[in-house]
Amino acid sequence: MREQLEALQQEALARLQEAGSVAELEQVRVNILGKKGSLTQLLRGLASVSAEERPLLGELANTLKNAFNEALQRRMLVLQEEDLAQRLAAERLDVTLPGRTPPLGGIHPVSRALDEIVRIFSQMGFPSAMGPEVEDDWHNFEALNIPADHPAREMHDTFYLPPGAKGEKRLLRTHTSTVQIHVMENRKPPLRVIAPGKVFRCDSDLTHTPMFHQVEGFLVDEGVHFGQLKGILQRFLRLFFERDLPVRFRPSFFPFTEPSAETDMGCLFCDGLGCRVCKGTGWIEVLGCGLIHPAVLDNVGIDRERYSGFAFGMGVERLAMLKYGIQDLRLFFENDVRFLRQHARL
Ligand code: PHE
Repeated sequence: MREQLEALQQEALARLQEAGSVAELEQVRVNILGKKGSLTQLLRGLASVSAEERPLLGELANTLKNAFNEALQRRMLVLQEEDLAQRLAAERLDVTLPGRTPPLGGIHPVSRALDEIVRIFSQMGFPSAMGPEVEDDWHNFEALNIPADHPAREMHDTFYLPPGAKGEKRLLRTHTSTVQIHVMENRKPPLRVIAPGKVFRCDSDLTHTPMFHQVEGFLVDEGVHFGQLKGILQRFLRLFFERDLPVRFRPSFFPFTEPSAETDMGCLFCDGLGCRVCKGTGWIEVLGCGLIHPAVLDNVGIDRERYSGFAFGMGVERLAMLKYGIQDLRLFFENDVRFLRQHARL
């Protein structure tokens, strides 16, 4: 029995050392000290040992048990530490890694140009007004001095919609000049307004898209004259392009203004020397303008003897192309992410 106990002690201690994990160690403990463990079995055998031998063997068995338990605890600590070290290594987090930022959106270049135009005019005292995109004949044409058989209608390439509930003609507005009529019908002079928005023309090629954006501006008061219009537009163009540009006015025709003019600015790309963008002229046409035609004032019930006004309209895509150096109008609406990355800003 003594030999058996001593052999068991050797074996038990060796097993403890062999155990490679906390789970294996637990298995060793069960094999030795468990209900059916080898030490437990041996101790049961004590009953059949003679009375003289029993105390000695009992004491030996107890020492063995204690020694085993102690060794077990020590081994347990070592293995737990190894375990922890392993997990720490495997589950290591590099807290210095930069975070993964979700892709951020940006402001489309057309919106950027629009915002900038609105900001500059608001600083000059022009608040914004909006009008509907679906219009009637009166606001898009008639009230603007474009009667039914006027040749100017043909220039507008209008999208017509099915008639409204009361049989009225409906169309997508071809210009933002409609907002002049809405505002003048509903408010009394003095008026000072800009109207940014979408307009629609049945036209699609290299330099035309069926939808584009315009900003309309107008002012009605006593004694308004062309010099004020020139001053406002020159100031606007210089602020928008952040350059001391030359600006000129060329006689033109719009049914709703008299006199009418096209506004040109010195070419940004060649400083007026002549290049491909300005077709060698040194000038770029940027907007249309004029003094509001007295017939338009009559149509909205404003006294033409007392009041006069000016109006102007500009294409936002055109201004954005010049400002940001974008060559092809269609890029604005294709939503190619490479284009947006280059030109969209926060
Ligand atoms: N509505 C004109 C256009 O679409 C532009 C314009 C506005 C011209 C106001 C003169 C005055 O082309």
